Amino acid sequence: MTEAQAFDGWMRTVQQDMEEVLASYLPRATQVPGRLHDAMRYATLDGGKRVRPLLVFAAGELFNADRAALARAATAVEMIHAYSLVHDDMPCMDDDALRRGKPTVHVKYDEATALLVGDALQAQAFLVLSDIAGEPSLILKMIRVLATAAGSVGMCGGQAIDLDSVGMRLSLDELEQMHCLKTGALLRASVLLGALSGKALTESEQSALDVYADAIGLAFQVVDDVLDATADSNTLGKTAGKDAADNKPTYVSILGLEQSRALAEKLRHDAHQAIMPFGDRARRLRELADLIVERKT
Ligand code: IPE
Ligand code: IPE
Ligand code: MG
Ligand code: MG
Ligand code: MG
Repeated sequence: MTEAQAFDGWMRTVQQDMEEVLASYLPRATQVPGRLHDAMRYATLDGGKRVRPLLVFAAGELFNADRAALARAATAVEMIHAYSLVHDDMPCMDDDALRRGKPTVHVKYDEATALLVGDALQAQAFLVLSDIAGEPSLILKMIRVLATAAGSVGMCGGQAIDLDSVGMRLSLDELEQMHCLKTGALLRASVLLGALSGKALTESEQSALDVYADAIGLAFQVVDDVLDATADSNTLGKTAGKDAADNKPTYVSILGLEQSRALAEKLRHDAHQAIMPFGDRARRLRELADLIVERKT
């Protein structure tokens, strides 16, 4: 079996396992209020690349973390991500009708339901995380990591800057800050949650993972901007060309396609370099950096 096939198999196993685990941690649609629970399941299940769970598992495997703990940590971060997508698509934000190849939650249900789906998924995420069996101080730390990444100095803060930036020409530094917050924060939290499921980190482990996570976090949104400008809606499962149509500052609008792709390559290199000290144990993290830069959807 080649290394690429081995990675593919590993990725598919995590993705399939996550589908079951997510389904088990979401309230059943038969439970009252059924319509809200149905919409939460619609927003979370059957779709998405599960990049954040893959990062949780890859970082966890580096430190031989317990798989049940990893499954909970991965569920929590994917629930926050799913909530962020539901709200991102609402008319008050990006006003999108297509997500993961399906109608968005506010289109399929209604706006109030979409708002509540996000609220409830966020609460559910912390419930799942707080139930991890393990050292209480580590679990508390994980809760703080996810809360910080999701809040106003993380994803929500990035989304606020994104909305304030429509029609503006940002400097490269401002653009980088926006991307690091709106997308990088949750990806970074995924790496940390995976690692912390295994053990308390030493300073050098923490700083190597920080550099890796910052690089892939930014690379992920640079590639998202490139794909928005170059791929079609069918392939993406979401409306292509939306950033330009909405006059959003992106890496493509500021650097152009060629330089954006070159930046993603540089970030891939930085990510690889950062985890060199872990040797072959960090193979999955290395392969995920490749996936993030090479992905077509
Ligand atoms: C899309 O994230 C939104 C961004 C943060 C750029 P993903 O590309 O990970 O979306 P799914 O989960 O695969 O649908
Ligand atoms: C969304 O960024 C980031 C979050 C959901 C936090 P985008 O608005 O670029 O994501 P897509 O392109 O709609 O997936
Ligand atoms: Mg957006
Ligand atoms: Mg959007
Ligand atoms: Mg986008």
